[in-house]
Amino acid sequence: MKLGIVGATGMVGRIIIDILNNKQIPLNSLYLSASNKSIGKEFFFKGKKLFVIEINDLLNKKPDVVLFSAGAKISKKWATKFSEKGSVVIDNSSAWRMCTDKKLIIPEINSKILDKKDKIISNPNCSTIQLVMVLYPLHIKYSIQRVVVSTYQSVTGTGKIALNQLCEEEKGNYNCKKAYTYPIYRNILPHCDFFMKNGYTAEEIKLINETKKIINDKKINITATSVRVPVTGGHSESVNITFNNKPCINKILNILSNQKGIVVQDNVKMDIYPMPLYSHGKDEIFVGRIRKDFSIKNSINLWIVSDNLRKGAATNAIQILEYLIKKKYI
Ligand SMILES: NC(=O)c1ccc[n+]([C@@H]2O[C@H](COP(=O)([O-])OP(=O)(O)OC[C@H]3O[C@@H](n4cnc5c(N)ncnc54)[C@H](OP(=O)(O)O)[C@@H]3O)[C@@H](O)[C@H]2O)c1
Repeated sequence: MKLGIVGATGMVGRIIIDILNNKQIPLNSLYLSASNKSIGKEFFFKGKKLFVIEINDLLNKKPDVVLFSAGAKISKKWATKFSEKGSVVIDNSSAWRMCTDKKLIIPEINSKILDKKDKIISNPNCSTIQLVMVLYPLHIKYSIQRVVVSTYQSVTGTGKIALNQLCEEEKGNYNCKKAYTYPIYRNILPHCDFFMKNGYTAEEIKLINETKKIINDKKINITATSVRVPVTGGHSESVNITFNNKPCINKILNILSNQKGIVVQDNVKMDIYPMPLYSHGKDEIFVGRIRKDFSIKNSINLWIVSDNLRKGAATNAIQILEYLIKKKYI
């Protein structure tokens, strides 16, 4: 199999390379691409030196699969060019997620809807993946009526310029290239992505619409507030869920403990709960602080943490790739 990565020099792209380095995926060739300024940059992959090539050169290599992590504009411009040449595209950007003819996949939840005809497959937003991983099994059991989610998102979710802004501000340099209008060091920003006419940010709307699409239930009511925090390890989410049926906390602990890809960290007597610092570099979704909401019927609160660069992006994309290989769709 010939595999290409577009955006190989970015935060997600580098994690994809790192994960592939430690996997036994049968690759004949790996091609790396990024913007023109990175052409010729060196990477080591399984003991071999690889160089970043132009995206057009990657297209001419006719890769079997291309993992895109270079932003929605690049995906919009290039994904169909690759699919028309026969490549399967797994796209990390928001470009195709809400298109009715494109599938939005979290392998643990809905990989079964994929088939050989899918040439552009979307990876959900990082904050969506960790939320839906927890919501889905609870929805199956109790039927979700409403979700109120507030996110506490790592700067790594905005890419390498944002991480650099935080590191520079920490050193006292506030004149570096900025991903955010305001300082992020010793600050929090109730602002992820751009503001839409309705007063919500695009990140909040992604979280709402993508969740409904993956769970495949438009009746679930969801509202969201997305917040950027000066954290680098992963995204956290405070989630309030109201069910149509009466939930039982012990059963919820049991359901989530038995769900593939989820780790329950919930023992407040021992101060055990998920934190972004400790999710860094891990593929699982961590959930804790699971408790009854005493203010309203059939409701609970919980706290979800995950490394946005791994299960929120690179790991999920590679799991999709592994599924396609297993099903012999590529
Ligand atoms: N970060 C996350 O947690 C996360 C999670 C889920 C999804 N995503 C999505 O994944 C994508 C990448 O995010 P990131 O955080 O990795 O961003 P990033 O660190 O800013 O990296 C962006 C990548 O895109 C490349 N690129 C920029 N302009 C390009 C062009 N004109 N042609 C080809 N390549 C170009 C960059 O190459 P150079 O190095 O040469 O500039 C770099 O490799 C985005 O669509 C983002 O929404 C990110």
